[in-house]
Amino acid sequence: MSDTYTQIVNAPLVSSLASSLGLPRPVELDRFSAGEPVVNGPVLTGAAPDGSLRLSISRILDSIAAERAGTEGPVKALVFDATGISDSGQLVELQKFFYPGVSRLGPSGRAIVLGTPPASTGAVRAHTAQRALEGFVRSLGKEIGARGSTTQLVYVEPGAETEIDSTLRFLLSPRSAYVSGQVIRVGKAVTATPELDWDRPLGGLTALVTGASRGIGESIAATLARDGATVVGLDIPAAGSDLDAVTSRLGGRSIALDITAEGAPAAIASQLPEGVDVIVHNAGVTLDRTIAKMPEERWTRLMEINLSSEERINDEILARGLLRPNGRIVCVSSMSGIAGNSGQTNYATSKAGVIGMVEAMAPEMAKRKGTINAVAPGFIETRMTAAMPFGPREVGRRLSSLSQGGKPVDVAEAIAWFASPASTGVNGNTIRVCGQNLLGA
Ligand SMILES: NC(=O)c1ccc[n+]([C@@H]2O[C@H](COP(=O)([O-])OP(=O)(O)OC[C@H]3O[C@@H](n4cnc5c(N)ncnc54)[C@H](O)[C@@H]3O)[C@@H](O)[C@H]2O)c1
Repeated sequence: MSDTYTQIVNAPLVSSLASSLGLPRPVELDRFSAGEPVVNGPVLTGAAPDGSLRLSISRILDSIAAERAGTEGPVKALVFDATGISDSGQLVELQKFFYPGVSRLGPSGRAIVLGTPPASTGAVRAHTAQRALEGFVRSLGKEIGARGSTTQLVYVEPGAETEIDSTLRFLLSPRSAYVSGQVIRVGKAVTATPELDWDRPLGGLTALVTGASRGIGESIAATLARDGATVVGLDIPAAGSDLDAVTSRLGGRSIALDITAEGAPAAIASQLPEGVDVIVHNAGVTLDRTIAKMPEERWTRLMEINLSSEERINDEILARGLLRPNGRIVCVSSMSGIAGNSGQTNYATSKAGVIGMVEAMAPEMAKRKGTINAVAPGFIETRMTAAMPFGPREVGRRLSSLSQGGKPVDVAEAIAWFASPASTGVNGNTIRVCGQNLLGA
């Protein structure tokens, strides 16, 4: 869907007027295309004394042949190892690195801070200082977003220093164009990380994607297929021909089924006799109405589609042992599930429930040597958001640090990062794909 506002304020004659009026002028975000390097420009690294990630960061930058920045000139990414900070007085190390560094950051730049999960520090002062990193990162995102740049905090569990490859690659690359201001937790691997072809990390694997006939689901299917997966797309029978068009284009196959139908979990399982590596619960609906005008049927229908059917499908697939080793469940929550939204008590309840399901299942998934995570999209340009009235639609777009809506592919790329066999230490996260929207932040 076109963003007319962005086109107008960036038009040659209007742009200087727009900037003198202080109107946001969203920049076009770099997005990934096949064959591009992970990071397209020099990377400046820094560390607080006694950091534990220096070697891992250096090894990963070598593995992607990243150019190292010198003492001056533009940079594409700033990476700071803050794991050595164990006292509030040492937080000034952030200022020492970013004060000279941030003005060198070009458009669609990346600023990544790596720390230790506060509760894992085992000391009050260190816990305090590590928790403080969140405030820094979230504010930095608001300062650099106007240039299309993003920032994240990655908390790395002690002992998981070697598990950050897939996360750092994702965050450095244009694949994370619309992810900003997020706190990501990387823990110890649930299973050994396999050797990987990073251009086709899902090669030889099968991925089930629900709601795959259009919108975000279609983009997820295409992105997972690009990464090598055989995609089994699922959608309601009424969307069968659109679904077939998507799956045949991607060399996959279709399941035309309503996930809320009686016996649906068993029917899905029977279509996956050899098992499945990745399950993406994307199918979802909005059935907006304030609670004062919400009939029970409307509440129940939505809850069945957005949450209860996902629980039943997970139970069935896991009970039959169909999720293969190093398997993935990836769910699609929503910013509404975090921030709440008037007229969406049913939707927000279901999407907050999805986050709860991820939290509750993560330990069990780790025991099964798999992971479960969720994305929570903000304002994404789809048919759903195109149908919104003009005012709320414009507000939805401009409320983010990047001053624009995201694209379905932005959600799909985050899902592909979770789905990667290398993301063995990424479990129990809900990551917003919202351009650091102000709502619920
Ligand atoms: N578009 C956004 O801005 C946005 C924001 C936050 C979250 N989301 C979430 O992202 C997901 C995809 O959203 P979208 O914008 O692409 O919506 P969409 O309506 O374009 O696609 C949803 C798909 O799910 C399918 N589906 C619905 N009910 C089903 C059922 N009972 N069984 C099987 N399939 C079913 C639909 O047929 C459709 O193909 C949803 O979970 C939605 O809640 C979207």
